[in-house]
Amino acid sequence: MADHSLMDMSWDDFDEHRDPRPDNNEFDAIVDRAISRRGFLGGALAFGSGAAVFGTGLLSSTSAARAEGTGFDFTPIDTATDFDIHVPEGFQWKPLVRWGDALWSEAEGAFSADTGVSVDMSSKVFGENTDGMELFDVDGKQVIAVNSEYVNPKINLPADREGTPKNADEVRMLQNFQGVTVMEVAGSGASFEVVKDSPLNRRIDHNTQMTMDGPVAGTDFVKTNTDPEGMSPKGTLNNCGSGRTLWGTYLTCEENFNGYFGTTEVAQDQKPVELPEGFSRYGIGGKGRYAYEVFDERFDISKEPNEPHRHGWIVEIDPANPDSTPVKHTALGRFKHENAAMTQTADGRIVVYMGDDERGEFMYKYVSNGTWAEGQSTDGLLSDGTLYVAKFNDDMTGEWLALTPETTGMEIADLLVHARMAGSKVGATTMDRPEWIAVNPVKVEAYCALTNNKNRGVKPNAGGDETPVGGPNPRETNHYGQIVRWRPEREDHGAAAFTWDLYVMAGNPTVYDNAYAGSDNVTPGNMFNSPDGMIFDSKGMLWIQTDGNYKNEGDFEGQGNNQMLVGNTETGEIARFMTGPYGCEITGMCWSLDKKTAFVGIQHPGGSWPDGAGKPRSSVIAVWREDGAAFG
Ligand code: FEO
Ligand code: CA
Ligand code: CA
Ligand code: CA
Repeated sequence: MADHSLMDMSWDDFDEHRDPRPDNNEFDAIVDRAISRRGFLGGALAFGSGAAVFGTGLLSSTSAARAEGTGFDFTPIDTATDFDIHVPEGFQWKPLVRWGDALWSEAEGAFSADTGVSVDMSSKVFGENTDGMELFDVDGKQVIAVNSEYVNPKINLPADREGTPKNADEVRMLQNFQGVTVMEVAGSGASFEVVKDSPLNRRIDHNTQMTMDGPVAGTDFVKTNTDPEGMSPKGTLNNCGSGRTLWGTYLTCEENFNGYFGTTEVAQDQKPVELPEGFSRYGIGGKGRYAYEVFDERFDISKEPNEPHRHGWIVEIDPANPDSTPVKHTALGRFKHENAAMTQTADGRIVVYMGDDERGEFMYKYVSNGTWAEGQSTDGLLSDGTLYVAKFNDDMTGEWLALTPETTGMEIADLLVHARMAGSKVGATTMDRPEWIAVNPVKVEAYCALTNNKNRGVKPNAGGDETPVGGPNPRETNHYGQIVRWRPEREDHGAAAFTWDLYVMAGNPTVYDNAYAGSDNVTPGNMFNSPDGMIFDSKGMLWIQTDGNYKNEGDFEGQGNNQMLVGNTETGEIARFMTGPYGCEITGMCWSLDKKTAFVGIQHPGGSWPDGAGKPRSSVIAVWREDGAAFG
């Protein structure tokens, strides 16, 4: 077993396990209200019968799993604690592309198990720490756009650097391993491969030229020494979850962008004397995570104090045009974006649901002013609209609060750059770290994974808002997470009002018999912690990916490695489909055009996965059915 302590470096800092707490009836009462066994499903459906069925072991045989009503066309699998991937009987998998694999022939063999990739080749290979991804049909070619969220310098750099770059070339190498890869893929099941040298292949990294639109573009907030017009930012940072537009472009979501900035003005571990407004709420200041600021002035906030305002946005990329300039859409707000889930209002306006993944931050919705239908112009759809923030009430209603100069007292550019402060001003609900949002394709409703929150009910958020338990965040010191779902009034994603319930509250029923056991659809046979990635398939099944504690002990005993489950959102049932190698999180998923192959992201694996020797390599894997049938 290799040293997997290197791998405990996800940007998503989850809770370490806690001591079991005694039963507490107060929690049960709070939680009963939130998961509402009566709920808006109008019965015991979501948390009653499905869970009871699950507990009997009915799903333990293939024929039973395929029984009418469960919706699961596979036999659920057990947890695992090893350095391998497991999928159900009748399915197979293989790595499609690993960190360091060539996208162009010239980089063939660029990766060495001992030394990784050279600086020269670092822009010609697949990036590290894969995350959100989407597959596009480009004139019949299958093209995947996929994020590389961050790097592990202890693995990327020569061992004697001890995880810190020592010159500008090494910084450039780390920058090259992150961002977005656009790559053509071809084949079927076991034969799927990246098409090397495809004219559609592209790497977008921390130095790629971008542009901006929306109310913040060209304002003083985003002017820098090298871009006095404030229109031409470089690079997209910490690309976490994904989204896709209805018109076939990719949305990459900038999450923990703050960590790349630092200052050389004072000692590295101190904050500079004066920080611009908002830096503390966004966690900017002090020492950069990868010492970029030492070798690249753009990341030194004492020299370029506005550079951090140019990151933390949703960025649109055209996968069909490798020469296109990515666009940062400032109308959608600046925060630690997880993903972007696009749908439409009843009258055809564009809706984008977005989470801000930090303890005690908010959930957002953007609504365009213009409408769109197939074949129409997309101009202005992501630059001219209104940003809303979610307020959840304990009575299972909620509303979207508009963030405007009138409601916030802030200028429009200011409230978009500082969306968090604008949300606080209007009284948005502090959440348990909103990760992915997914819109049900067969029903007017959406889901958000609230991954966990060790501060809930204990500490305020970074901006000083109190974070009491309540609404869809019903547990103090919530280390298991939950998934909230909402249904907009009048079945219209444009409505201001909605009703909500919890689809699932994760927990451990073998350790607790209170709220920390989870909702009724959580059983010893399907339990998990820290839901994160969520992707609906075309039939309305919800694929749930976890990024949580994989130590398999204490509160997490019996939960094993991070995993991917499938949820039937009608019955509430949840079944485990995949387990990842020890140390990893599972994040990002898309399907081939024929739905016969699924592509799944394995981020920060441990050991020497998947090669069995040398450095661990984050990878996108392909999963298919042995009988060649479509799934998803
Ligand atoms: Fe990059 Fe919140 O996950
Ligand atoms: Ca992660
Ligand atoms: Ca996470
Ligand atoms: Ca995530």
